[in-house]
Amino acid sequence: MAAMFGRVCVTVTLLMCVLGGQALDLLRATATSGTDRYSTPTVYCWCASYPNMTLCSWPEPANSPATHYIATYSERHSQSDIKQCNLIPPSSSSPPLNSPSSSPSSVPSEQLWHCQLPTLKLLTDYIINVTAVYSSGSSSHLASFMLEDIVKPDPPEDVRVSPQNIKDLLLEWSPPCTWANLDIFPLKYQIKYLWEIGGTSKSVNLGPVESTKVELKTLSPGNAYLFQVCAMELLGLGECSNWSSPVNVTIPRTQP
Ligand SMILES: *[C@@H]1O[C@H](CO)[C@@H](O)[C@H](O)[C@H]1NC(C)=O
Ligand SMILES: *[C@@H]1O[C@H](CO)[C@@H](O)[C@H](O)[C@H]1NC(C)=O
Ligand SMILES: *[C@@H]1O[C@H](CO)[C@@H](O)[C@H](O)[C@H]1NC(C)=O
Ligand SMILES: *[C@@H]1O[C@H](CO)[C@@H](O)[C@H](O)[C@H]1NC(C)=O
Repeated sequence: MAAMFGRVCVTVTLLMCVLGGQALDLLRATATSGTDRYSTPTVYCWCASYPNMTLCSWPEPANSPATHYIATYSERHSQSDIKQCNLIPPSSSSPPLNSPSSSPSSVPSEQLWHCQLPTLKLLTDYIINVTAVYSSGSSSHLASFMLEDIVKPDPPEDVRVSPQNIKDLLLEWSPPCTWANLDIFPLKYQIKYLWEIGGTSKSVNLGPVESTKVELKTLSPGNAYLFQVCAMELLGLGECSNWSSPVNVTIPRTQP
């Protein structure tokens, strides 16, 4: 305990330096033995369904895979109460339980480890410690976060476009089905559409809107538009989801 105390103090000091409202402060912790020989996992944490589903992920280094990982977390103010984060190895590649259809085609090029945190307390600082263990040493990465800062829904689903009048379109979508508490924590949406004219790309951003559809007017016949939507917690916690995959629609030149 006494031996650990020194390091914990240093860690807390570092965390206090960087805590200042940034979404996620990443800190490289001391490699417990060897410094350059072991790669330290780079940990990214996000909450895809506030407040229930927090995941952390880090890539498996291709050249020097760790023998195993230890992922633990604790509240910053009671660091002696250390809990295990539930590890999910890369082989079960489609990210866990919860992203059934959000990114069917985007197979990650690097193997990602995940670990799943249970429902966390609101407005509470947490520290996660991911340690890569090698045959002759280990390397830890500490990240500090507050749930509210790392909210990032999955992208909206089923983005679709239907013609309204001659030039008007109705753009509709569904909330990400992984966002479990839509009635308590509603989402808002931003819309982006892109098109090319004379070799130049143009784009328009709309929103945020709370509804799951917008009517778009004054689009130019003959142009092809790419439509995308992102989802954000209504009060603005965290950040907007990734953009949904683009839907490509060409406005007909003449009325059928
Ligand atoms: C989310 O967490 C709340 C509070 O702990 C719990 O009551 C609820 O059942 C959880 N929902 C899901 C979908 O896990
Ligand atoms: C992180 O976890 C590793 C493995 O459990 C442990 O040896 C190390 O002391 C922890 N680091 C901190 C700063 O708590
Ligand atoms: C969001 O996009 C990044 C970068 O393309 C990707 O690594 C990540 O997996 C995506 N997240 C989701 C939830 O689709
Ligand atoms: C969108 O569709 C139009 C017409 O089919 C095509 O010319 C354009 O290359 C497509 N854009 C993208 C980004 O796929």
